[in-house]
Amino acid sequence: MSRRWVSERKRDPYYKRAKRENYYSRAAYKLMQMDERFGIIRKGDAVIDLGAAPGGWSQVAVERSAPDGLVISIDLRRISEIKGAITMRGDAFAPETVEKIIALLESKGRGRADVILSDMSPNISGVYDIDHAKSIDLVKRAMELCGALLRPGGTFVAKVFEGESMKELKNEAKERFRMVKPHSPDATRERSSEIYIVCKGFRS
Ligand SMILES: C[S@@+](CC[C@H](N)C(=O)[O-])C[C@H]1O[C@@H](n2cnc3c(N)ncnc32)[C@H](O)[C@@H]1O
Repeated sequence: MSRRWVSERKRDPYYKRAKRENYYSRAAYKLMQMDERFGIIRKGDAVIDLGAAPGGWSQVAVERSAPDGLVISIDLRRISEIKGAITMRGDAFAPETVEKIIALLESKGRGRADVILSDMSPNISGVYDIDHAKSIDLVKRAMELCGALLRPGGTFVAKVFEGESMKELKNEAKERFRMVKPHSPDATRERSSEIYIVCKGFRS
């Protein structure tokens, strides 16, 4: 963490707000803003949050799917304790993780999830093209998981670093979802190359 990063973070209004309002990350506001715009999470929804640590998105998912929702949060890193969410530490793409998620959904009387969120980030190399390619790969793999975990008509939201393969990714998403919208919520930092693809109406 550079000194500049630390001082920018201290001045960041969303960072301060997250501290004040007890969210584990400023990223929570990105999901809130996308939810307000696109209606991503409904009451009672079963939501899978891939790349959930420290836990801001999962906190929002719990709030918005309450009182009868189900939130399953997965990350390679430890996820902070989130009341109302089931947290799992592991690789989202490992077959045993997918099996655990399916078993959990079944044990809660849910066939498949209504919403899959992916705020997963690759390990950053600092080389733009490499990081873009890694991020595209993550989203494509997360989209593959939808086949096993998302109900027909369901919603998928994923972070991607912008770049030349964005168009190809969008086309691939359009084959699987009725609506695909790239979107940059206000809470995304100005200098960031990240964007989200919001996909609704999963064609199973
Ligand atoms: C930007 S953070 C997510 C922030 C989170 N949405 C929040 O609101 O607190 C990205 C996370 O993706 C996770 N991640 C990356 N690849 C993953 C994988 N294959 N399986 C599970 N988690 C992964 C990283 O460990 C990291 O914690």
